[in-house]
Amino acid sequence: MLFRHKKRLSTDTMENGVKLVAAIEPKNVVAEQFRTVRTNIEFSSIDKEIKTLLFTSSDVSEGKSTVSANVAVTLAQQGKKVLFIDADLRRPTLHTTFGLSNTQGLSTILANNEDYHSIAVNSSIDNLTIITSGPVPPNPAELLNSNRMKRLLQLASSEFDLVILDVPPLLSVTDTQILSAEVDGVVFVVRQGVAQRTAVKRAKELLSMVHANLLGYVLNDVAPKNGYGYGYGYGYGYGDNH
Ligand SMILES: Nc1ncnc2c1ncn2[C@@H]1O[C@H](COP(=O)(O)OP(=O)(O)O)[C@@H](O)[C@H]1O
Ligand SMILES: [Mg+2]
Repeated sequence: MLFRHKKRLSTDTMENGVKLVAAIEPKNVVAEQFRTVRTNIEFSSIDKEIKTLLFTSSDVSEGKSTVSANVAVTLAQQGKKVLFIDADLRRPTLHTTFGLSNTQGLSTILANNEDYHSIAVNSSIDNLTIITSGPVPPNPAELLNSNRMKRLLQLASSEFDLVILDVPPLLSVTDTQILSAEVDGVVFVVRQGVAQRTAVKRAKELLSMVHANLLGYVLNDVAPKNGYGYGYGYGYGYGDNH
């Protein structure tokens, strides 16, 4: 090919799901890195118990779904009762990752004011319950910003140890900025070589505008020193200096 065409949006994880290294190869160095992310999240929340948590990034394909799914698995493996919700209603991945039907899910719970207990399903992982996205609705932002969503988070956080949301990137739609104000903690995924400095800065501004509790960063795809395939680093406590 002579010319590079405009980079197409990757649909890999939408079609095939994310790689659950934490579940399939728990002894893998990458699985160990996900456990480090888990530990850092736990330590970053000593003063305030984190019951609801979301993973976001400035742009698509930075690894939100991959990181959030693997961290959710490691928390469940540790014995925490985890509810994992696919709130990326436009580019959902959870149903393919866990091999679940997606005819019902978050979008139908919110649109029809349904009881979430009848829609949430147990995953193949002990302690890990899942609400898939449901069919793509015409009004994702409106649904996610509704009082129904607030009530769902409140109720679910009283019934689970931790509620984790996979959400869209901050810069593309308003969904995440508003959800960030509703959850107890936000983890920001930055993919090396993909994330643009100005985009990360803008995303951080959007988070501070709503006084989101930014717990830390996951630096995804960091070239590892030991030459192993790929890695995750966790930048903790960067605060406003970066
Ligand atoms: N550390 C990594 N190394 C290699 N590929 C990765 C890594 N993190 C994510 N990917 C790949 O990048 C693509 C996008 O990841 P995904 O988790 O779906 O991102 P997002 O949810 O932010 O859009 C997928 O094909 C995924 O397998
Ligand atoms: Mg995703």
